[in-house]
Amino acid sequence: MIWGENSPKGPNPAAERPACRLGVNIDHVATLRNARGGVDPDPVRAAQLAIMAGADGITAHLREDRRHIRDEDMARLKNEVDAPLNFEMAATDEMVEICLRTAPHAACLVPEKREERTTEGGLDVAGQADSLRPKIERLRDAGIRVSLFIDPDPRQIEAAVALGAPVVELHTGEYQQAALSTTPALIQKTFDAIEQAARLGDEMGLEIHAGHGLNFQNVSNIAAIPAMRELNIGHFLIGEAVFMGLDKAVREMGRLIADARSGRLV
Ligand code: PXP
Repeated sequence: MIWGENSPKGPNPAAERPACRLGVNIDHVATLRNARGGVDPDPVRAAQLAIMAGADGITAHLREDRRHIRDEDMARLKNEVDAPLNFEMAATDEMVEICLRTAPHAACLVPEKREERTTEGGLDVAGQADSLRPKIERLRDAGIRVSLFIDPDPRQIEAAVALGAPVVELHTGEYQQAALSTTPALIQKTFDAIEQAARLGDEMGLEIHAGHGLNFQNVSNIAAIPAMRELNIGHFLIGEAVFMGLDKAVREMGRLIADARSGRLV
């Protein structure tokens, strides 16, 4: 969405913005492969293609039920893709062990429920500080950059800072849902929550990322938030690859992000 009747009033177009990376989540290439069994389409090939198209990194979520990415995919992504790997995972002992063995560039801790279709909300960092602390410390001590996927809520930002996490990824799912509606007040409210959480987190020393439900229509406003340093985008890009090819879809997303960073929003 670009600034229009139903789009939120966004950040100052003249604000100074460092670059914002694009992380491509290739989970749903594995979803398609698993629908038939076998080896096609290969998520590692998709990751290599996304990097050639300008993505800055690859994200993959090894879920407890292995519904898309599997253990061997994660190992191959680490070994066969020449780009930073962001290992998305539930905060469980099993996943911490696999993540330590894989040694990715980054780990993103997310809440996970077996019955959900996709990650439904942010991690309750404030409510689970005691169980998260040792896991964050183990990953951090191994040199893995830890990010916590949270709702854009000041309480969660403060809890992430208290736990010593260097990065938060702000959940953009509510904004995406609101952007589908025609209720400007709701769009503005969900956008403002992200913008304010990004500003607060940045002031408190966190690196700010965002993701979930981003697409060609809604990415520009999120990418224009000055503190934003990385966007992780999956489902829409893999879907769009069916129509325009993955290479073009990733390039177009990268262009929209770069334009938003330079203040070119229309
Ligand atoms: N970031 C996190 C933490 C996620 O859980 C997901 C979904 O797997 C994404 C980003 C990407 O969301 P989408 O697939 O809707 O682009």
